[in-house]
Amino acid sequence: MKLWEKGINPEPAIIEFTAGKDRKTDLALTKWDIVGSMAHVIMLQDVGLISEEEKNGMLKALHSLFEWDEEGSLVIEKDVEDIHSQIEKEMSSILGTTGKKIHTGRSRNDQVLVDIRLYTREEIDKLSVHIRNLFIRLQDLSEQYKEELLPGYTHMQPAMVSSFGLWFGAWAECLADDIVMLAGARAINNQNPLGTAAGYGTTLPINRKLTSELLEFDDLLYNSAYASLSRGKIEMAVASALASVAQTLSRFSMDICIYMSSEYRFIDFPDEYVTGSSIMPQKRNPDVFELIRARCNVIQTLPNQIAILTSNLQSGYNRDLQLLKMLVFDAFGELRECIEIMLLMLNNIKVKKNITENSLYNTIFSTEEVNRLVKHGIPFRDAYKAVSEMVKNSSFSKTTLADYVHEGSIGNLCNKEIADLFEERMKPFINTSAAEFAEKMMKHVTA
Ligand code: ARG
Repeated sequence: MKLWEKGINPEPAIIEFTAGKDRKTDLALTKWDIVGSMAHVIMLQDVGLISEEEKNGMLKALHSLFEWDEEGSLVIEKDVEDIHSQIEKEMSSILGTTGKKIHTGRSRNDQVLVDIRLYTREEIDKLSVHIRNLFIRLQDLSEQYKEELLPGYTHMQPAMVSSFGLWFGAWAECLADDIVMLAGARAINNQNPLGTAAGYGTTLPINRKLTSELLEFDDLLYNSAYASLSRGKIEMAVASALASVAQTLSRFSMDICIYMSSEYRFIDFPDEYVTGSSIMPQKRNPDVFELIRARCNVIQTLPNQIAILTSNLQSGYNRDLQLLKMLVFDAFGELRECIEIMLLMLNNIKVKKNITENSLYNTIFSTEEVNRLVKHGIPFRDAYKAVSEMVKNSSFSKTTLADYVHEGSIGNLCNKEIADLFEERMKPFINTSAAEFAEKMMKHVTA
């Protein structure tokens, strides 16, 4: 069954190739395709394109399809191209002629656009909760270990005194910026493309504002041609936000792999959380963090993949766009899995104490020695030169947390300020499920 069949039997190999992975990928969109269709039906009746009775029948049928999907019994059949076709097929078999009216005033192009945006909004909101959990854990660790000093590195060489408080807290503040990217992607995403049809509107008197309100979009995506252009653009915005989160997780994982190595041994995990080698009995490997690093590095290639996939397309719909779905859809789940396992590891992390007592790290206190002289009125460059002479043979007296007072230093982490910023930035994420939307739509059934 093809929605576009006109008496000629399509060649099966062509259908298989063009459907590609859609029969699987589109299952992520099912719930939202139904919710979008419910809003569309309510609007069609409101503008007089279908009767009240037809609206009631269609809403009830769509609600049953929603329930079938929840039970796992709604599938995309072998001869059906995608979820949009399957739902129209089901509607016709439940309602006969009335079911065939569901596609009035829309195209699969705006239908898939609205599905993707509703699905993406939900995924973004779910991801924000994961990021928040990780943020809170990192801040807790930062507070718990704020007294424990650590060498800070530049060029991978011991540089200055740092602390576990500063290190854990740095990754937390990194996430506070990632959340801004995610909120930006959410705002761009949260505009309604439904009603732009194939990309050039429709002569039917549809009410796009009404579907926008019903689906709780911030506004319309106005220009019909831009709506189809926005496919690829929206994925780019979302992928950039996901890449930003992935960058944080990947770089943090790299630090953990290094700090866990036997040359450093700054941190450790219980035996149950590390892996071994089939040949070397001594090995305790940080495989979890290596895999987070690898998976997040792959996610960071997404903006590039999207740019290349869309770079030579004429405006208007092109089938190439279909492949964007699996690229971005998979990345949400990947990131959530990485965050969950990272949280499990961080709940069991062990932090070594008194690391900077080791004479190996004596030189990290030399800059503070320079500052001591500066405080006595010696010009900085003269003080620097004097201390440079001492670097090889002397040990420097150790600075403590109390010596650092400015904002964002080891003695004044400002975790509270960062937490306030984070919570403020979390405000745009709302998290309304498809099931809640479906229930709201059913309130429009009048009999
Ligand atoms: N599976 C298609 C996609 O994801 C749905 C839209 C089909 N539109 C079309 N004109 N062939 O892009």
